[in-house]
Amino acid sequence: MAIIAHLWLWPVALFALDLLYIAAASDRIEGLAERTYFYVGGRYEHVTQSKFGAGEVFTGQIYVEKLVPDSLAAHLFGNPIEAFQAYDRFRYPLVFIPGAGQTGTNFLNTPDNRPGWASYFLNQGYTVYLTDPPQRGRSPWIPSKGTVEAAPVRYVQAYFTTPERYSLNVWPQASLHTQWPGTGLVGDPTFDAFYASQVQLQTSAFISDDNNKAADVALLERIGPCILVTHSQSGPYGWVAGDARPDLVKGIVAIEPEGPPFASESFGPSGPTRVYGVTRLPLHYFPLVHDPNRDLKTVVVPPSGPNLSSCTLQAEPPRRLVSLARVPVVLITGEASYHAPYDYCTVLYLRQAGVEVTFMDLRAMGVKGNAHFLFMEKNNMEIADLVARWLGRIDEGGWLTESQV
Ligand SMILES: *[C@@H]1O[C@H](CO)[C@@H](O)[C@H](O)[C@H]1NC(C)=O
Repeated sequence: MAIIAHLWLWPVALFALDLLYIAAASDRIEGLAERTYFYVGGRYEHVTQSKFGAGEVFTGQIYVEKLVPDSLAAHLFGNPIEAFQAYDRFRYPLVFIPGAGQTGTNFLNTPDNRPGWASYFLNQGYTVYLTDPPQRGRSPWIPSKGTVEAAPVRYVQAYFTTPERYSLNVWPQASLHTQWPGTGLVGDPTFDAFYASQVQLQTSAFISDDNNKAADVALLERIGPCILVTHSQSGPYGWVAGDARPDLVKGIVAIEPEGPPFASESFGPSGPTRVYGVTRLPLHYFPLVHDPNRDLKTVVVPPSGPNLSSCTLQAEPPRRLVSLARVPVVLITGEASYHAPYDYCTVLYLRQAGVEVTFMDLRAMGVKGNAHFLFMEKNNMEIADLVARWLGRIDEGGWLTESQV
C-alpha cells in the first residue's frame, strides 16, 4: 500500500537522478547555443586581378560567430547549479581571438572531439564570440597586401604537440609536457585533425598588426563591452585593443601572449621585436612616447629562478600604460610550454607599467604538463575552471590575485 501510494514520486526521483548524471557529465556535453554569424570591419579597395581586371573588392573584414547560451539547455545539460547562478547576474560576453594560423574552431570542440572552451563558457552563461582573424579562415584573403604562408608539420610538432621529443637544445621545461591528447605526431588521428585545422597566416607581422587592430576595434564598437580571450600571436592584439578602447574591454584573458617584452623570443620565431614593450603598434604611455627606441629606456634583469630567461624591463622610473591600466588582465602559462621561460617577464613588464595582472603560472598552481595549446589539451576544463573563477570576479567589479585563484 505504502509503495503504491508513493508511485507518483518515481518521475521526480528519476528527474533528480538525471540532474545528478548531467551535472557529473557536464564537461563532456557540448554547450547548446543560438548561433548567428556576421562580418565586421574591412573596407572597399581598388585592386587589379588577372581574371576580373580592375575593380572594387572588400578586404580586411573578419568572420565572427556569435553563440548565445540557450538558457533552457544550460539548465538541463549544463551544471544545473552553475546555470541557475549564471542567469541571475550579468556577464560580459567573451570574444575569442585565436593565435597564428588558427581560427575560431580552436575553441569549439577539441581535435579529439571533447567539448572546448566555447562550450564550457556557454554552460556558465556567457555569450561567446569566435573570430577568424583577417585574411585567414573564413575571413577572406584577397592578395592585395603581403602574402600568406602556413606553419609546417615540424614546427607544429616542435612547439605545440610534442616539444618533449625535441627537448635537446630547446627550453628545459619541454620535457615536462604530458597533456597533449594522443602521440602528437603525424598519423595520430588527433594530431592529423589538429593539423588539418591549421590555416594560412599573413607573413608580414606589420600588415597583420594593422589589419587586426582595425578589425578588433570595429568588432568592439559593434558589440559593446566584453572580455577578450587572446592566445599567442593575438596577445599583442588584445593589448592594442584594450589600450584603444579601455571603455569597452572589461578584461583580457591572455593565454601565453606573444613575447617577451622588447626582445626576440629565444626558442621560437615570435616575429619582429615589440618596440612598444609588449606590442609593435603604439600604446598610450605617460609620459608620452614619441619615439619608442629613444623614449622607452630599458634594462635587462637576470632570470628570477631556474629555467627562466632574463627580462627586458623599463629603466626606473617607468612610463605608465595609462590606458591599458584600466583593464584587468589574467595571463596564463603552461608548465612545459616554450613560453614558460619568459611569460613572467611580460607579467613584470605590465605590472611595472601600472597594469593589474593576475599571473596564472600553471606550474606554480599545481597544474602540470601543459604546452602552448593548453585550452585544448587533456585537462582543458581544469584550466577553464580557473579562468571562470577569475572572470566571476570581473562580473562583480573586482578581480582575483594569484593567491585567491
Ligand atoms: C626545470 O626543468 C626541469 C626539466 O628540464 C624540471 O625537472 C625542473 O622541475 C624545472 N625546475 C623549475 C624550478 O622549473
